[in-house]
Amino acid sequence: MKTVVMPAEDSHAIKTAARLINKGQVVAFPTETVYGLGANAFDADACMKIFAAKNRPADNPLIVHISNRDMLSSVADEIKPVAYRLMDAFWPGPLTLIMKKAEGIPEVVTAGLNTVAVRMPDHKDAIALIDASGVPIAAPSANSSGRPSPTSAMHVFEDMDTRIPLILDGGASYAGVESTILDISGDTPTLLRPGIIPPELLSKVTECEILIDKGIIAPIQDGSAPKAPGMKYTHYSPKANVVVCESENKFEVITNAASGLCGNVAVICLEERRELYEESGLFAYIRSAEDARGLCAILFDALRSADLLGVEHIFCEGISANGIGLAYMNRLLKAAGYQTI
Ligand code: TXA
Ligand code: MG
Repeated sequence: MKTVVMPAEDSHAIKTAARLINKGQVVAFPTETVYGLGANAFDADACMKIFAAKNRPADNPLIVHISNRDMLSSVADEIKPVAYRLMDAFWPGPLTLIMKKAEGIPEVVTAGLNTVAVRMPDHKDAIALIDASGVPIAAPSANSSGRPSPTSAMHVFEDMDTRIPLILDGGASYAGVESTILDISGDTPTLLRPGIIPPELLSKVTECEILIDKGIIAPIQDGSAPKAPGMKYTHYSPKANVVVCESENKFEVITNAASGLCGNVAVICLEERRELYEESGLFAYIRSAEDARGLCAILFDALRSADLLGVEHIFCEGISANGIGLAYMNRLLKAAGYQTI
């Protein structure tokens, strides 16, 4: 299959994409978090194609994207008052809510669970595509399973060339990490995946403490399954070996480890130490950002770029796992397979 990349602002792009969705095809589209691989959420056969294109295990459910509140009742049932408070505060935006599933959502989308993940993306092209299709769109991130999530149309092309007919190019995703997932199907709201909407902001709106699923920044050791099935799989793995530096004197520890290595070495660091790493001459590739938010925005692009440049080792500065830092450390530690120095 030939994969076409179309700028979303082309006059025919959204219409073409919507037509494909309505014909049961799979289309990649931009969102504010990462690119999604979408199909009509009511069409079980179309949603199966998503699993095939990504090589995604069938027990890992998809997120359903809607463009307006009227669509919600066709996706979720028994919508609680807390759901409305969260939607008022954060939608459209990078928050996914887990609620009781509506009948019309096929089992393949929810991997047989009686709950469904729903979000309203804050991206004009995503909203235009859902509106033009007239149906909710089920979409996981548009990477091959296990690879870093795509934050540009080029990233999607790297993984999906020949597997899907169309990629809508809407520029770089500004958040850079996937949405925060909050399970409100039980009695206590539980954070299943951290994102750029941090737990403290959520608990302000829900007016209660948010439980944080263990396994978010530590490997699960007791054999228990994480509540978001997707969190148990290897994630975000570039070809390079990734190591996270959690020591205090990061520059010394990283340069010391890097100086013993042959091959291309990269570092992902805070802006304040960029010059030091540059002057050391040890790194073939350096990416930096000011803060947790900036690091989230560059992480997946940095991991993919390092692979394209043939980098063999990537050293990443750890940051404190608070606020947005929780999302960054969650993705980073998974990419590193929890290897730390
Ligand atoms: O930002 C995002 O959320 C992006 C964009 C495209 O919207 N999508 C995304 O999808 O990250 P994906 O499939 O890569 O991650 C979905 C996560 C998985 O970890 C999955 O297990 C979890 O959501 N999930 C989906 N439905 C669930 C449910 N009913 N209960 C618990 N976890 C669920
Ligand atoms: Mg994903």
